[in-house]
Amino acid sequence: MAYPYTHEKEVRVLSRGWGDPTTRTLEGWKALGGYEALAKALKMERTQVIEEVKSSGLRGRGGAGFPTGVKWSFMPKEKKGPHYLCCNADESEPGTFKDRELLRWTPHQVIEGCLIGAYAIQADHVYIYCRGEFFETTQILARAVEEAYEAGYIGKDILGSGHSIDVTVFAGAGAYICGEETALMNSLEGRRGLPRIKPPFPAAVGAFGQPTTINNVETLCAVPHIITNGGEWYRQWGTEKSSGTKLFCVSGHVRRPGNYELPLGFPMDELIYDVCGGFQDGRSLKAVIPGGSSVPILSAQECESCTLDYEGVVEAGSMLGCASVIIMDDTTNIVKQVRRMVDFYAHESCGQCTPCREGTQWLSRILVRIENGRGTEEDLDTLLELGEQMTGTTICVLSDSAAAPVASSIEKFRDDYLALIRRGEKVGAA
Ligand SMILES: Cc1cc2nc3c(=O)[nH]c(=O)nc-3n(C[C@H](O)[C@H](O)[C@H](O)COP(=O)(O)O)c2cc1C
Ligand code: SF4
Repeated sequence: MAYPYTHEKEVRVLSRGWGDPTTRTLEGWKALGGYEALAKALKMERTQVIEEVKSSGLRGRGGAGFPTGVKWSFMPKEKKGPHYLCCNADESEPGTFKDRELLRWTPHQVIEGCLIGAYAIQADHVYIYCRGEFFETTQILARAVEEAYEAGYIGKDILGSGHSIDVTVFAGAGAYICGEETALMNSLEGRRGLPRIKPPFPAAVGAFGQPTTINNVETLCAVPHIITNGGEWYRQWGTEKSSGTKLFCVSGHVRRPGNYELPLGFPMDELIYDVCGGFQDGRSLKAVIPGGSSVPILSAQECESCTLDYEGVVEAGSMLGCASVIIMDDTTNIVKQVRRMVDFYAHESCGQCTPCREGTQWLSRILVRIENGRGTEEDLDTLLELGEQMTGTTICVLSDSAAAPVASSIEKFRDDYLALIRRGEKVGAA
């Protein structure tokens, strides 16, 4: 296989077939046992499907890590109108590049997961909401949906089961905020992609005012494997509370960055030095952002004994998020990196909430001032105070996400800030 960088320690369940274009086709996917899980699920009671997913311990891969089976069980049992499943393929978190690979190499895996999920929650319609910039990926997916319709896996009376499910591929317009589940639903309905106040939660009032579940691409891709092999089988990997395999998107200063599918609980130092080949000669680890740009930064020391599972990363001082591991060596100017992340959030804020709309802009301005050697020590207090005001005070957590790297970097890399403030020196060029 030509897929860039694989490693013997990987457990390739979801990424099986990556790098081989034949898995994109229905025939290729079926050769790997594709759509057998759907046939099996359709013969099970819906509650059995949910119980199997619950027993696997699968947790949402979109960032929050909420148990998938439990989420599905929130959908009303009595159906009074249409139910919807939205597959969140808006993937835009800086450092994250796994869902696009699942979509472009194994679109039928995504579709099969969606259909099983839809059956479990009694959804009539699946919307796969794709990030606007995913032109090629969206076309590949749309072709796979056509193939699956032609073969009777989607549409009326699927495989003669009496159950009918439609699938629509929807292209967004390239806004990060539309990955937030309620903004996604607004966008799907043709409105501005603004997050909604919760409650009501989507399982009660979701897309088009109907009960809706939103799941990440990777979450849904795990489902066919769980149905085929059982929840216990999935638990052979990972830890008690964080079961299964996970796609780790590794970027930054390592020799072999890329996507690696590993068991949850994998040691961080093994990921950096073994799987990803460590650093260029003479360089060493400075910091890691373990879960995409929205989570607190970890110092090299905190990474030493960190295991990559939901609990392990919290214990180390951050969050696993969507497992996008951004690795920085000792040439990194932390202030510059944090400023760049904050600029991203300032640009992507939808502007509904004052702490977020104003706060992200102010964070950015103060960080630019410090970066350019014109900051003061009081600026650090102002940044921390701003961060506090931006946390837990807004409609969605984009605001918290912008504040997290600022506060954690001041706490852990204060000397980098002080060096710029006191001497106007830059710490590292990268
Ligand atoms: C600003 C923001 C952006 C988000 N972007 C994404 C995204 O691109 N993809 C995704 O799956 N979840 C994203 N989420 C999380 C979703 O709101 C939601 O929790 C997730 O899709 C649920 O799927 P899961 O339970 O399978 O993890 C985002 C959340 C926020 C606050
Ligand atoms: S926190 Fe920011 S992005 Fe989220 S709803 Fe409020 S203004 Fe919009």
